[in-house]
Amino acid sequence: MTLVADGTRPAWREGSFARVLADVPCTGLGALRRRPESRWRRQPGELPGLVALQRRLLATAISSLKPGGVVAYVTCSPHPAETTEVLATATGVRVLPATEYLPEVPDAARGDFVQLWPHRHGTDAMFLALLQREE
Ligand SMILES: C[S@@+](CC[C@H](N)C(=O)[O-])C[C@H]1O[C@@H](n2cnc3c(N)ncnc32)[C@H](O)[C@@H]1O
Repeated sequence: MTLVADGTRPAWREGSFARVLADVPCTGLGALRRRPESRWRRQPGELPGLVALQRRLLATAISSLKPGGVVAYVTCSPHPAETTEVLATATGVRVLPATEYLPEVPDAARGDFVQLWPHRHGTDAMFLALLQREE
């Protein structure tokens, strides 16, 4: 089944899912190698609105989890405001060591999170955090 909805106003019940992927809208600054014009298109003033949306989408993702369920929070930006600082607002979860799920990817640890880099991994600068809802 496919549902289309505003993630800040979910069209499903809380605690519905065992797994949630929150691939949130972001500045896309981790994809500059493919979209170099972003550095001129993006403005610092856009960040607060995006961060507020990211926090709301993460909160929905967490409340949508069954107890023990896991959300993957993903951005294509390495910016702390969009990654670690958003995660610092998460409640009712424990952080899983994401690198343990990607043992074939070297040098990707950013604390318990995964941070990929163009110069190191040949990818966009993708960020991944895994959060497990408390039982
Ligand atoms: C990084 S992209 C995700 C791309 C997606 N994983 C894919 O493979 O097509 C972020 C997406 O979030 C969507 N978005 C923005 N605000 C949203 C909201 N309030 N609720 C749900 N989706 C939203 C954007 O339209 C955009 O498609």
